[in-house]
This record gives sequence, C-alpha cells and structure tokens, in this order.
Amino acid sequence: MVKAKSALITGITGQDGSYLAEFLLTKNYTVHGLIRRSSSFNTERIDHLYQDPHAHDPRLILHYGDLNDPSSLRRILDQTQPDEIYNLGAQSHVRVSFDMPLYTCDTDGLGTVRLLEAVRDFESYTRRRIRFYQASSSEMYGKVVETPQKETTPFYPRSPYACAKVFSHWITVNYRESYGLHASNGILFNHESPRRGETFVTRKITRAVGRIHHGLQKKVFLGNLEAKRDWGFAGDYVQAMWLMLQQDEADDYVVATGKTYSVRQFLEEAFTAAGLNWQDHVEIDPRYFRPAEVDLLLGDPAKAREKLGWEPTVGFKELVRMMVEHDMELAAREKTLVDAGHQMPANCGHDQ
Ligand code: NAP
Ligand code: GDD
Repeated sequence: MVKAKSALITGITGQDGSYLAEFLLTKNYTVHGLIRRSSSFNTERIDHLYQDPHAHDPRLILHYGDLNDPSSLRRILDQTQPDEIYNLGAQSHVRVSFDMPLYTCDTDGLGTVRLLEAVRDFESYTRRRIRFYQASSSEMYGKVVETPQKETTPFYPRSPYACAKVFSHWITVNYRESYGLHASNGILFNHESPRRGETFVTRKITRAVGRIHHGLQKKVFLGNLEAKRDWGFAGDYVQAMWLMLQQDEADDYVVATGKTYSVRQFLEEAFTAAGLNWQDHVEIDPRYFRPAEVDLLLGDPAKAREKLGWEPTVGFKELVRMMVEHDMELAAREKTLVDAGHQMPANCGHDQ
C-alpha cells in the first residue's frame, strides 16, 4: 500500500494556507500547520477543518512556531518529517512593509533561508528528501521591464516586501543549485477570495459594498485607482503550488490569468453587482498611496499551462461576484447584530 504523504504549511492561518490545507486533505495528506501564538484567535480560516473536537480530522495538526525562530522550525521538522513543505508564511502587505521594513525582510527574506537551512540539515542527517515550495510574488516585477511578465523577466522590486521576496526567490534557486534540494518558486500574481485579508484592496472594496448595501457604512477610502493587477482565484492557485511539487524536477513558474484590470474596474464591477454607483461612495485618501507604486502586472502563465497542465477556472467577473455575494451575506449578519444592539467592530482606522 502506498503511504499517505504529509505536508507542512507555514502561513496555514492565511488565505492561501487555508485553501491549500483543504486541498491537501482531499488528496489524503496529513497536514501539519505552523501557527504563531497570538493574543487573539487567528485560526478563523481553518476552524471549519477542525470544528467538532470528537470528529476532528486527525490529519490536520497545528504546531506553534515562527519563521523568525529557527529552533522552532528545526523542532517541527524533526517532529513531523514532512514529504513536502509549503512556505507561505510572510508579512504579506506591501504598504505595511514600508512601515516595517526590517521585520518584513526578517520574516519574508531571512525566514526562508532559516527554513531552507533546517531542510538541508534534516536531509543530511535523515537521508530523507523534502520537496520545498516558496511563495514568490509578481510584486518582484515591480516597475516592470517587460509585459506580459514571465519566468525570464528581470525583477525590479519597488517595496521592502518585494525586495525580501526577491531574496527568498534567489536563495531558493541557490539551494536547488548548490545542494540539489527539490525547491521550486511559484511566482504567483494577485489572487483573491472571500477569505482574502480585509486590508487588501479587493476585499476592502467588497466588504464596503456589503456594508454600504446594508446601511452599515457610507464611504470607503482608497488610494491609487489606476494600478492594474492580474487577479485570479486563490482556490485555483494553491493547486498550482501542489502541481509544482509533483514534478520530477524542481523549477520556477508564473501563475496568473493573463488578463489585467485596474482597481477602478474592480470598483465598478463590485458596486454594480450590488446595484450601487461607486462614485457615490468612494473617496481618495492619500494615506493609501505608496512611496513607490507597482503600476501594471500582467502574467504569462504559458509555462504552468504546458508543464503543469494548470489552468485558472475563475475569471474576473466571477471572482468579483463571488466576493461580493459572500460579503453581502456577512454584512447582513452584522446588520442583524447591530439591530440587536451590538457594536460594529472598529478597525481603529488602520485599514491599509
Ligand atoms: P496572508 O493571508 O497574509 O497570510 C500570511 C500567513 O503568514 C498567515 O498565516 C500569517 O500568520 C503567517 N505569518 C506571518 N508572519 C509569520 C511569521 N513570522 N512566522 C510564521 N508565519 C507567519 O497571505 P496569503 O495571501 O495567504 O499569501 C500567502 C503567501 O503567498 C505569502 O507569502 C504572500 O507573500 C505570498 N503571495 C501572495 C499573493 C496573493 O495575491 N495572495 C501573491 C503572491 C505571493 P498570522 O495569521 O498569525 O498572521
Ligand atoms: N491595500 C490597498 N488599500 N491597496 C489600495 C488601496 C487601498 O485602500 N487603494 C488603492 N490600492 C492599490 C494599491 O496601491 C495597489 O496598487 C493595488 O491597489 C493592490 O493593492 P493590494 O490589494 O494591497 O495588493 P498588492 O498588489 O500590493 O499585493 C498583493 O499581491 C502581491 C502579488 O502581486 C499581496 O497579496 C502581496 O502579498 C502579493 O505578493
């Protein structure tokens, strides 16, 4: 009988980590997740995989650790002995990386080499092999030198976040070439979902649409509406991660839809879906401009299509509709609570 595989996911509490955990469980993996200790609950996106403690799926196991704590990484590798590692953990907000450059570079840059070092040592003393996935980003193309962007397009990072991701990208290539690690980079373009963090622009918009529709909010404050992104669905993109680790040879792949839209177009689509006119509700707040902007991202996913057989299944309009529908329902539930006298949760104005 073939032994079921096991995987370790850093960033399992994030958008991608939750979809990947779900996907790997359907593939019969044992899934180990690295989680950070937090003063408030941070497992909301994976709670449905746990729910009833008696029925709880023993194939999902969480471990406390941190990419900034190398001893925790080594201990978790020893305990879990995974066949595959997906390094999704990161301070993933580009705007915030300008406020916290050292922390971002430590986690998103050095965190990767801490994990790769742990893998290298683990392989040398156990003689077991681990396949490694690094969450690279289209943000690395920054001030793009070529459109569409593909695997061979040079990087021109425009934020501390992107600089850290370029470091992690190349250190992953370096460990592959120096030590023969099966280590792959997925250069993923923006991908969204109803589980997207609420401070990223798509979710900020769809949350506002739901709340405005239900009379819980009047305005949404945004920055640059002209930036263009190649937006796909996170559920599709985690499948590409898995496909990369099923290949005999490790390699680097662009994962994208091959279509690009502006923030303004996203706004139009989302407000129209709720029968609203975005011009009545959007104000520009310079707080949301970035010291250096990435104006245009458009990926060429030809290599992923040809070598991995990967295709996106959700287009732009469908993605926007999915997020708006979800956030309309969420706002309806919030409205019921407000009507019953509960306070709306405040975000203290830090909605980047
Ligand atoms: P996300 O929702 O922000 O999730 C980030 C995850 O990283 C969370 O689980 C977070 O834990 C964890 N994390 C943060 N700092 C950590 C640390 N020091 N040690 C361990 N874990 C830490 O991000 P996402 O959208 O799922 O993205 C997943 C990965 O893909 C990230 O590396 C991101 O940079 C990259 N990426 C994302 C996109 C995209 O469009 N979504 C595109 C390209 C690349 P807490 O829950 O405790 O905060
Ligand atoms: N967050 C945010 N908030 N962005 C805004 C706002 C706002 O109020 N107003 C306009 N924008 C613009 C940003 O200036 C940017 O050009 C664009 O909307 C997208 O911003 P985000 O949704 O924050 O995503 P991102 O493209 O900067 O970064 C995301 O995608 C990367 C892949 O290219 C993140 O998920 C990164 O982790 C990821 O690597």
